[in-house]
Amino acid sequence: MKFEIKVEKVKESRISQFDPKNIGFGKLFTDHMFVADYKNGEWTDLRIVPYGPFDLSPATSAIHYGQSIFEGMKAFANVNNDHEITLFRPEENAKRLNRSAVRMAMPEIPEALFLQALNELLQLDRAWVPRTEGGALYVRPYMFATDDFIGVKPSDNYRFAIFCCPVGPYYNKALRVKVEEDFSRAAPGGVGFTKCAGNYGAALYPTALAQKEGYDQILWTDPIEHKFVEETGTTNFFAVFENEIVTPSLTHTLLAGITRESVIIGLKHLGYTVTERPLSVQELIDRNTEIKELFITGTAATLINLDGFGFRGTYYNVYDESRNQASQSVKKFLDDLKVCRVSDPFNWVEIL
Ligand code: COI
Repeated sequence: MKFEIKVEKVKESRISQFDPKNIGFGKLFTDHMFVADYKNGEWTDLRIVPYGPFDLSPATSAIHYGQSIFEGMKAFANVNNDHEITLFRPEENAKRLNRSAVRMAMPEIPEALFLQALNELLQLDRAWVPRTEGGALYVRPYMFATDDFIGVKPSDNYRFAIFCCPVGPYYNKALRVKVEEDFSRAAPGGVGFTKCAGNYGAALYPTALAQKEGYDQILWTDPIEHKFVEETGTTNFFAVFENEIVTPSLTHTLLAGITRESVIIGLKHLGYTVTERPLSVQELIDRNTEIKELFITGTAATLINLDGFGFRGTYYNVYDESRNQASQSVKKFLDDLKVCRVSDPFNWVEIL
């Protein structure tokens, strides 16, 4: 089924503001955005319009009660064809947005509408996709409650929108993370597995405290005993031991990263052994000398090595560039796949 999406193009493109040599992250937005409104039980008024502010009531319920969810994805330039751009596993983002929506008592968005809207928006703003190595067009689909009502209940009205911004690297060095024992990101039965805005807002204060101590990020531990590592504030987590690569198994309190899953599959494809299991801080300390590398993964961050981790006042430095083979091989494999430099054994790349 094809949805009817109205298109209002900008009178004048802002693309001259885009400097491919100095891209940054998330400050410059492309010319257009997709918007749809949920009213009377259906998604209506599907439109692509010039990127610009929304007119919202002060009582907009998302602002008060937090029904707000989002996704992050990237479009890339096809290295084999200047006219083509690519998307990486977009259906996975559509599915995860809907898993978040269900948990947050929000309406699902038909996967076909999500994909069509994305496709049409990217066709229109394709000139903004950076051609530079490591650059991408970051795509932000999101949904929030729009009822103009102050009672606590699921909103009747919602807005779904997609905007894009050209981006360079989110992090550009090996990170120092602090193992977090005092604060919790998520609780069993809570919303840790969703990409709801509150998960990120609640992480800002503990992260700021860690940053005052000289760390870049926090490494969350489980909320019950604070013994098992879970994820960082922006990514999933991997530990490479001599004969095994471990990533925390998915629980109700972890985000099921699409990059996480792609890295697991990619590593296995490259011949590495990957285990998804509980991973304790104590194991990281006890097997410290066996750790070849620690790395983190996410759409924005892609794959970044950790310099080390801090735990109860001791800093465990693990970074050694000569031992980064696993992370660098899988990073290269996925980076090459996304821009069509290598063939795609998994059918993950969509060409537009
Ligand atoms: C992403 O990696 O796309 C995310 O949504 C994480 C965000 C902290 C930038």
